[in-house]
Amino acid sequence: ATTSPPRRRRKEQWGSRLGVIMAVAGSAVGLGNFLRFPGQAAQNGGGAFMLPYFISLLILGIPLCWTEWTMGRFGGTRGFHSAPGIFCVLCRTPKARYLSVFALLIPLVIYMYYIVIEAWCLAYAWNYATGDLMLGKDSAAYESFFSDFVGIGEDGHAFGGGGSPLLLFIAITFVLNFILIYRGVAKGIETFCKFAIPLMVVCALCVLARVLTLPSDQVNDGLGFMWNPKPEALTDPKTWLAASGQIFFSLSVGFGVIINYSSYLTKKDDVVLSGLTACSMNEFFEVCLGGLITLPAAFIFLGVSVASFGTFGLGFNALPNVFAQMYAGQLFGFLWFFMLFLAAVTSSLSMLQPFIAFLEEGFDLERHASATLLGIIALAGSLFVVYFSAGLKALDTFDFWVGTFLIFVLAMIQAVVYGWVFGIDRGEHEAHIGAHMRIPRFVQLLLKYVVPVYLGVIFVAFFFQNVL
Ligand code: PFF
Repeated sequence: ATTSPPRRRRKEQWGSRLGVIMAVAGSAVGLGNFLRFPGQAAQNGGGAFMLPYFISLLILGIPLCWTEWTMGRFGGTRGFHSAPGIFCVLCRTPKARYLSVFALLIPLVIYMYYIVIEAWCLAYAWNYATGDLMLGKDSAAYESFFSDFVGIGEDGHAFGGGGSPLLLFIAITFVLNFILIYRGVAKGIETFCKFAIPLMVVCALCVLARVLTLPSDQVNDGLGFMWNPKPEALTDPKTWLAASGQIFFSLSVGFGVIINYSSYLTKKDDVVLSGLTACSMNEFFEVCLGGLITLPAAFIFLGVSVASFGTFGLGFNALPNVFAQMYAGQLFGFLWFFMLFLAAVTSSLSMLQPFIAFLEEGFDLERHASATLLGIIALAGSLFVVYFSAGLKALDTFDFWVGTFLIFVLAMIQAVVYGWVFGIDRGEHEAHIGAHMRIPRFVQLLLKYVVPVYLGVIFVAFFFQNVL
């Protein structure tokens, strides 16, 4: 019975082909591109990180992204939009819904901390606009601005609740997210992404131009700090795990998000070219913008001490120092944090939609009731993060276990479902319906044989080294 389509309700669909590409790219381009990527690369071998990174992109990222687009549309054209429903039709058994538990929970859990950082971005953009963040060259002033704002206690640990301005910015961010979700896939998510992405490109290019026109020897040193390869990192399984984790996090692959977004496509839509376009846009933002701005700029002004900032500290403690020291820093600081905020909103929307689809399908709720219920759950979770989590270090640890480790498990499940249960021949046929380009045949074989083994080997090696 579970595999029969849910009760008919008003059908949601994307408004245009460009719109869905923008929405998926919007999900992919986020804080991961500008803060997480430079942090991961610097911690895991600098330029050497790019070898496992590109291998993961080609072997895992793009192929798995195609499977998600394909499986999502397959489920969607049969009336299912939530991961449990889609997994049931793919595997032709109701039991398969249990396989998709992570696909529902991971985005929601990530949302709970991601939204807090999104609110910091908005607050920083606001404080640049008003000039309150122009605190001169004193690094300690930025650190205390940050700790006061997010409420980090004397011991450098708990957020300690945060001051009321933080709660105000969280409230604004929350309301914005929920208005867009409430309006629906085409009117809310798609409309916002179509306007936000071009604006993000403009803002990021302005900041990049500013950074690259600093004195050239400094720019070279800055780029060298991030990109000089440390080959010894390549023999450490953690580097490979981190590289594939970054690919998954950044492309939003393995979260159940693309499966959900592509379930609103029709048979006429092209999943192959759209998937590839969204991946390429993400890589442009990540390598060309994220990789050239954040860490090189921080290094130019702050030297090797930037290595100690951690992923999130880099964005909020180190970069304001950089803007303080550059010409027209207030303007560039504003553009940077506003761009980060837009990037974060387009991503956080995609973390909510899978759960909305689940509430609609699993409990037969209308969209507005689902959005309200989800709003309450998500708000409770985010307040928990603000009041009870143990500061920035905890965010990094949490980000590792949910953002890297669990995603890995989910990606493995998806690869096996596609390659061995749904089947690569059906998958290949389904992917090419409405397509304007072909996926080479070897990619299907790669998905069936290489991807599960590749993921398994990294996983086991990491497990032996770190957990046992
Ligand atoms: N891809 C997003 C980023 O790079 O910031 C993060 C993300 C989006 C993670 C959507 C999970 C998700 F469901």
